[in-house]
Amino acid sequence: MYNSKITGMGFYVPDNIVTNDDLAKIMDTNDAWIQERTGIQERRWIPEGSEDTSAVMGAKAARIAIERSGLTKDDIDFIVFATLSPDYFFPGCGVMIQDMLDMQTIGALDVRNQCSGFLYALSTADQFIKTGMYKNILVIGAEYHSNALDKTTRGRGVGVLFGDGAGACVLSRTEDNTKGILSTHLYSQGKYADKLIVKTPSIKHWVPEILAGKEDDTSYFPYMDGQLVFKNAVVRFSEVINEGLNANNLTSKDIDLFVPHQANLRIAQFIQKRFKLNDDQVYNNIMKYGNTTAASIIIALTEAWEKGKVKDGDLVVLAAFGSGFTWASAVIRW
Ligand code: ACO
Repeated sequence: MYNSKITGMGFYVPDNIVTNDDLAKIMDTNDAWIQERTGIQERRWIPEGSEDTSAVMGAKAARIAIERSGLTKDDIDFIVFATLSPDYFFPGCGVMIQDMLDMQTIGALDVRNQCSGFLYALSTADQFIKTGMYKNILVIGAEYHSNALDKTTRGRGVGVLFGDGAGACVLSRTEDNTKGILSTHLYSQGKYADKLIVKTPSIKHWVPEILAGKEDDTSYFPYMDGQLVFKNAVVRFSEVINEGLNANNLTSKDIDLFVPHQANLRIAQFIQKRFKLNDDQVYNNIMKYGNTTAASIIIALTEAWEKGKVKDGDLVVLAAFGSGFTWASAVIRW
């Protein structure tokens, strides 16, 4: 059986920085509340008039990842694109990437698993490579949150958390079974679907209803039961990391770098403490980018790699928790 390893990574975030103080000018919030609760200092939001979308940003990140992998776009034989903020209801962003990068007529799949989206996408690509079906798969996570947030005081509990951006990697076949993705672990619990959700627009709430002028309808904006999400996140993160370690006969002492989904610095710090990891063993960048959902892990992993924090032979653990609820982990020998 083959193994899969990451051969190139890239990320793209819009230049436009939105600080907590900027948000305090448009809603009743403040820097101290946001930093104390979430660790976020600023985020990137696509500015008005920009051409960027989830697919466009994904394509920008993908070009960098492909170049760094030493391959060309014609070597890629499949695309997996994770996002909760696709450019269109349909078709998906994966097919748009195929066109934007002028790639061959290959398959493209969209993954809709929110904050766990990148790990679901990575796992899907890993299975295709392990079975021998594909050799080089482009895996992308991208989010355009800022156009769909409630930026008034009404939406402040959610609106301050999210940022825009994209990350991508190329996953390639290797015959070295000691390197690459050792295992992935995926879960969901749909009974909590309505605890972190955007209900409208959807097939259930379609055009006639939308046109009926419901100014007070908040179902168009993300809703989150933040405390329930927090409580479940810390439990599921721990479980799914332990499962990944146990599956590979490893312990937390073997971890060289842990890159958690960037939902909240407090969650990451809680997990860091629970697994007794020091600051050098954990990479966080939510302070600069906010929660970029399906893009956050691959943006953080790429940035860590660019800073020389991911070295040959390192054990890298990725984990995520989010809407669905869904959660996942990946254990990688670099
Ligand atoms: N600025 C100022 N005050 C605010 C803000 C704000 N931006 N937002 C809410 N408040 C107020 C509330 O109105 C409330 O006031 P009250 O006590 O007078 O009613 C108070 O602050 C406390 O609000 P809570 O919502 O209870 O705050 P909490 O301590 O739970 O923190 C947070 C909220 C940061 C969202 C936290 O619950 C959290 O991080 N949850 C987990 C998030 C997560 O992991 N999400 C998963 C990934 S996302 C995805 O999958 C799409």
